[in-house]
Amino acid sequence: AFTPTKDDKFSFGLWTIGWQGVDVFGTAVRPPMDPIHAVEKLAELGASAISFHDDDLVPDDNTRQQVLERFTKALADTGIVVEMATTNLFAHPVFKDGGLTANNRSVRRYALSKLLRNLDLAAELGASTYVLWGGREGAESGGSKDVRAALDRYKESMDLLTAYVREKGYNIRFALEPKPNEPRGDILLPSIGHAIAFINDLEDPELVGLNPEVGHEEMAGLNYAHGIAQALWHGKLYHIDLNGQHGPRFDQDLRFGAGNLRGAFWTVDVLQGSEGRPGYDGYVHFDYKPPRTEDEAGVWETARASMRNYLILRDKVKAFRADPEVQEAVAAARVAELSEPTLGEGETLEDLRNEKFDRDAVAERGLGFERLDQLAMEHLLGVR
Ligand code: GCO
Ligand code: MN
Ligand code: MN
Ligand code: MN
Repeated sequence: AFTPTKDDKFSFGLWTIGWQGVDVFGTAVRPPMDPIHAVEKLAELGASAISFHDDDLVPDDNTRQQVLERFTKALADTGIVVEMATTNLFAHPVFKDGGLTANNRSVRRYALSKLLRNLDLAAELGASTYVLWGGREGAESGGSKDVRAALDRYKESMDLLTAYVREKGYNIRFALEPKPNEPRGDILLPSIGHAIAFINDLEDPELVGLNPEVGHEEMAGLNYAHGIAQALWHGKLYHIDLNGQHGPRFDQDLRFGAGNLRGAFWTVDVLQGSEGRPGYDGYVHFDYKPPRTEDEAGVWETARASMRNYLILRDKVKAFRADPEVQEAVAAARVAELSEPTLGEGETLEDLRNEKFDRDAVAERGLGFERLDQLAMEHLLGVR
């Protein structure tokens, strides 16, 4: 029952299942994975799309054309589509102070040209989202980075890129991916909120939205479900990176459902949406790292599990919302009342200024939120 189909729109980054396990303390534990093999395995498991960084797929040498031919053939053979692409502006030492916001102007010019080259490829392969994760855009210390100048340069790049996409007529929107820290000590655009505020100051904000990642918000102690709900409210949830995280610590990039399971339940609830409150209808994209303890079989286990956990949670969320006792608890908690404007039609502030209100009586009443939450918990625990 929890076997994914193409309609579920599951997508994986090539760098996720292809992660060799190089971390700060250790070398690779798995051999490189051929992107063609990745495409075939993902298709077999029921995924419908993939995403990639330029460097995951196309080496910058004379094998580029040959790799692309093999890759597009694998896509055609499996029906897997490319839904998103992004640029690696963090691995090469030249990016140690960032790409688009490096102090060194020639690094910024190189970063932008690297991005443009892969943006063209993304358009050619039919991607509709182009992600920018500024992992190296930041600083370790106060004096080395003029943050306002860095934001000027970030904006300059985004304005150039949106103009370029308009000029070319590409069917692509950009999605900024916030992260508070790691690999830089402090990263620019550290949270969903920072990124939304930044987008509002761009020349062409319509073409720029967000790609929020579960673990990145939770690293900052923030509530991911609330974050994506606000992104939806602004019309900015262009893409998602689902994974798992155990609270504020290093970026764990666990498979979806691991870590904060209750958070995952409410995340799926927000993504599903409800009547009059549309959810997210883009690709359900997983960005995680199969732990170093796993061999290739373990890697596919984590990919299968990410999709399976999403489908299980989707079922749980649906059952929760359809449960008459839940609906009663939701009503008792006055959840729907929040959708009523505070001032009635035709009223003015004068109408409420001297309104009779029994403050003590209202203050005395419990709100019943715990009963509602326990019902959610019981659905999640599988006893309802
Ligand atoms: C992280 C990030 C990265 C980016 C990816 C796209 O875990 O810190 O999620 O994985 O999403 O590199 O550029
Ligand atoms: Mn991450
Ligand atoms: Mn990510
Ligand atoms: Mn990641």
